[in-house]
Amino acid sequence: MNLLLFGPPGSGKGTQADFLTREYGIPQISTGDILRDDVKRGTELGLKAREFMNRGELVPDEVMVEMIRERITRPDCAGGFLLDGFPRTVPQAEALDGMLETIGQRIDRLLYLHVELEELVERLTGRWVCPRCARSYHMVNNRPQDDMKCNVDRTGLVHRDDDTEQTARRRAEVFYQRTYPILAFYRQRGISVEVDGQGSIAEVRERVKRALQGQTGEAA
Ligand code: AP5
Repeated sequence: MNLLLFGPPGSGKGTQADFLTREYGIPQISTGDILRDDVKRGTELGLKAREFMNRGELVPDEVMVEMIRERITRPDCAGGFLLDGFPRTVPQAEALDGMLETIGQRIDRLLYLHVELEELVERLTGRWVCPRCARSYHMVNNRPQDDMKCNVDRTGLVHRDDDTEQTARRRAEVFYQRTYPILAFYRQRGISVEVDGQGSIAEVRERVKRALQGQTGEAA
């Protein structure tokens, strides 16, 4: 299964990816996590990406396309993968199509998590993340068992630089201007499914499961 997790910033892509990778036994490829790792290590890519990320803007397409090309041709993706945060523009979607075609693969399903703007801002400004494993927490909706430590590896949680209210709003704006249009690209193929991303994490998980089993979930 080659799955594309789609939705505005804060819609719960990373949160739902956690169970999907276990359910399907496929790796999660989060371009945001890869970029943040490069920023932390101070690589050339990280230095270039940082200014775009902190302003809530997209990193240039050519950088992202090369990153994905290298990642999806690794052996662990041979049995499928979950893309989280890519593609984000029409040129990225077209490039992805081309690279998958050359390796005899395609996207099987796009899952769109729909969440209203004010809920997105509330989730992002209250989010804390594990800098080691990238799991997300929220101080109200999804508290860690032990205050400020990751449930899995006990690393101290941190606040992302781009999770300020101003940047969260800009990221949402960029999503609707530049990323949302690619939904039409996948709708034409009849592989997109829309899920209501509001409600508790467990409720959304159940909707995602049913949508992927083809039982419910409104066609997007
Ligand atoms: P990226 O890291 O991809 O961020 P994003 O798309 O903005 O999404 P987030 O990770 O912020 O949100 P999410 O949907 O995963 O939500 P989460 O599950 O954490 O990208 C960051 C930046 O990198 C971009 O701005 C850009 O600069 C650059 N970039 C990345 N990819 C790129 C590309 N392809 N091209 C160009 N640039 C690129 O949930 C959010 C919070 O809500 C958490 O606190 C969580 O606990 C909570 N929560 C989750 N679900 C629920 C629920 N059901 N109810 C209540 N709370 C919930």
